[in-house]
Amino acid sequence: MAKTKTLYKCQKCEFESPQWLGKCTNCDSWNSLEEVLISKEESVAHRNVEAPSLSKKDHERLVKLDKFASFSDNRLKSNINEFDRVLGGGIFEGSVTLFSGEPGIGKSTLLLQAANGLAKDKLVLYVSAEESLGQITSRAKRLKIDNNNLIVLAENNLLTILGFLKEIKPSVLILDSIQAVYHPEISQPTGSMTQVRDSAAILERSARESGCALFIVGHVTKEGFLAGPKTLEHLVDTVIYFEGDRYQNLRTLRAVKNRNGSTGEMGLFEMTECGLEQIINPSELFMGDGGSSPGRALVPLMEGDRPLIAEVQALVTPTVYPNPVRRFTGVDTNQASLLVAIIEKTLKLNLSKSDLFIKISGGLNINETACDLAITLAIISSFLNKELPSGYALIGELGLGGEVRPVKALEARVRECERLGLKHLILPDQKMRGELSSLKATKVKSLSSAYQTLMRG
Ligand code: TYD
Ligand code: MG
Repeated sequence: MAKTKTLYKCQKCEFESPQWLGKCTNCDSWNSLEEVLISKEESVAHRNVEAPSLSKKDHERLVKLDKFASFSDNRLKSNINEFDRVLGGGIFEGSVTLFSGEPGIGKSTLLLQAANGLAKDKLVLYVSAEESLGQITSRAKRLKIDNNNLIVLAENNLLTILGFLKEIKPSVLILDSIQAVYHPEISQPTGSMTQVRDSAAILERSARESGCALFIVGHVTKEGFLAGPKTLEHLVDTVIYFEGDRYQNLRTLRAVKNRNGSTGEMGLFEMTECGLEQIINPSELFMGDGGSSPGRALVPLMEGDRPLIAEVQALVTPTVYPNPVRRFTGVDTNQASLLVAIIEKTLKLNLSKSDLFIKISGGLNINETACDLAITLAIISSFLNKELPSGYALIGELGLGGEVRPVKALEARVRECERLGLKHLILPDQKMRGELSSLKATKVKSLSSAYQTLMRG
């Protein structure tokens, strides 16, 4: 028989304690521990288990995959390309997505715009548990939304929402946000971990049963807590993060988990007076003015399947501290430290008495080694206070001995450089499909030869 035991769980960090504590000893939050009942099943792992015999009906459940190769997925399109692309080419019918981001970043705005696109063909129900009908309709007016397939509802009782789901049968249900709904039979307050987790599980089950695609909005805090929704990530098919600086206009949309597509894609938006606008040509935005000064190097990086030209900016200054300062933004600290060591070893430049700062234009994050050469040359350029020739971009991974290694998707990167009118490329000595038209390419085998070409050439 299953026995139960009582545990106290922190709503913020999930720390467990056998007794109640006023302050969580793990994350230092006050009054965050809640009672949970855990059932202790007797262990069956070491018992002998006999597999049951299967009926004919059971066997019919087996599906041979050969018939499905030519079938295309059923995707619902919002016709906002940046949004659909991140989801893997539109919303997978009947899927469940967790849409998270900081308060005020623009989640409600983007989802209302996407709902408008989806409602061209399908019935969409947008439930706001946070805002009044007046607030939602005023936003819709600002976004110039006029669509009788898009129904909005201001409601925060989960059971009432389930009633609407059952009777209206929308193809897409958007719940904004999970922290603001409550289940009347759960005694914990709205927004508590139990409310969030149980409400989401109930809603997810009902949506899957009815074949409705579900979007659950969840707020994250600055520290990255999905205040409860973090625990929902296993429940959903797709987890989307909508990020950006609230005081600047650039917003990025990324899938961190996607059962129906890749997680490498990034959608770019700009917050304007009339809602979020897609950034169709991101390279132009991130390349900057294309001018040159010491410490700047251009690199074509891959965001999912899309090439994008970014500018690496390095600042190297003499240090006044016993230990030089190293601040890397948008670049992995270990990777950047390794590149500094490679510069010192292979080019015999001494950076040990210099402070070093690196950042990537537009607040982008570089997480591919194909940018090694560009980061390295940006550092050297700033250290020597000598600018790289203008119109150059650099591609290449660096080995520990300073050798330049091949990169993936070289063709796509090169085409993007051509498209943006760059004149010269430094790239690894690797085979490439297709001809170069307007670009002059210099293949290099080592950091030293890239350095010779750019700084001494
Ligand atoms: P909102 O979608 O309410 O954010 P979230 O749902 O993530 O909390 O967006 C809030 C911010 O967006 C608010 O500061 C105002 C701004 N905004 C615009 O700049 N333009 C617009 O057209 C809209 C609707 C909002
Ligand atoms: Mg909102």
